[in-house]
Amino acid sequence: MSAPSNARRWPVAILGATGAVGQTFIRQLAGHPWFEIAELAASDRSAGRPYAEACRWLEGPLPAELASRVVVRCDPSEVRSPLVFSALDAGVAGEVEQAFARAGRLVLSNAKNHRMDADVPLVIPEVNAPHLALLETQRRTRSWTGGIVTNANCAATVAAMAMAPLHEAFTITRAMVFTMQAVSGAGYPGVASLDILGNVIPYIGDEEPKVERELNKMLGRFAGETVEAAPMKVSAHTNRVATEHGHLVCLSLGFDQRVSPDAAMEAMCTWRGHADARGLPSAPELPLVVTSEPDRPQTRRDVWAGKGMTVTVGRVRPDPLFDIKLVALGHNIIRGAAGGSVLNAELLASRGLLPPA
Ligand SMILES: NC(=O)c1ccc[n+]([C@@H]2O[C@H](COP(=O)([O-])OP(=O)(O)OC[C@H]3O[C@@H](n4cnc5c(N)ncnc54)[C@H](OP(=O)(O)O)[C@@H]3O)[C@@H](O)[C@H]2O)c1
Repeated sequence: MSAPSNARRWPVAILGATGAVGQTFIRQLAGHPWFEIAELAASDRSAGRPYAEACRWLEGPLPAELASRVVVRCDPSEVRSPLVFSALDAGVAGEVEQAFARAGRLVLSNAKNHRMDADVPLVIPEVNAPHLALLETQRRTRSWTGGIVTNANCAATVAAMAMAPLHEAFTITRAMVFTMQAVSGAGYPGVASLDILGNVIPYIGDEEPKVERELNKMLGRFAGETVEAAPMKVSAHTNRVATEHGHLVCLSLGFDQRVSPDAAMEAMCTWRGHADARGLPSAPELPLVVTSEPDRPQTRRDVWAGKGMTVTVGRVRPDPLFDIKLVALGHNIIRGAAGGSVLNAELLASRGLLPPA
């Protein structure tokens, strides 16, 4: 896969650059062959301050060249980059992202606000690259030259990666989804330590409906101008647990035919995802790794597979109520957020859909 033809890197902005996902964008984009961080934007609390002062940097070294970069407001008149990664809080993302799209910018969003809009692609390149074509419908119906492309809820992303090869091969009709979600999924400062240490919280606000509806859209079929939702019933239970990164997802799946664990393993082991995603700079060699170890995947041991971009699946076995059950694990803040968004931008770039650098 080659770099942009004009050999310049696209200047990109990060909205919500000070938060947990915003910081992960900075790490994912360090040394990126196609994109270069040009602008960092956040709320009025942070605007006007050097980045190192505005944010509480959480992991690894803060790139020296960004420490003194002055944070700007999330306003298209202050942010010039044609490509904008949004790690904004959902309380503000809806309006702000639309303002950028209206101003001709392409927004790669992590927020929930526009994911279910009928004309907004909700994309995992390996799973549903053809859905990107919704961008054309969006531009036509909203009369803007920019656009919004979203990636999914972090737990839904992990489940979708495990379910995609099975749905492609056998058609899933029913899914029970139980999650154990790391604290970094709640952002920073997120969940208070006294609420989560030694504890499991069986409630994450608005998470279950997000998982249920986003899986139907992501695994749906692009049909000309729209995405037809996958005709499967999904029920989700979501839980916050005291791990740092990584969402562990237990799945029980029913199909429109009898499917054995061996056949399911075979479908997942041979799956490489949509061809257009292969070879992109952030694409892992294997989007899905299947283990037959009886006690894997485990959060601590498997969360960094494929530098956080690979989902690990294991414990594929018969389910007495459904057909099969299995466990999937993925990095919520890399594959489930910033890494997934960068991969979406790479897919757009490889199809010539980015504005000129
Ligand atoms: N964490 C995950 O694993 C994950 C996974 C998938 C999707 N997401 C989604 O990604 C988004 C960011 O999540 P996060 O975990 O990074 O949250 P976070 O740590 O709370 O960061 C929120 C960011 O939004 C900015 N912000 C808040 N209010 C603003 C305003 N009025 N105007 C402009 N900027 C504002 C903050 O800037 P200040 O520092 O200046 O306040 C900060 O940069 C959310 O929509 C979340 O649902 C998160």
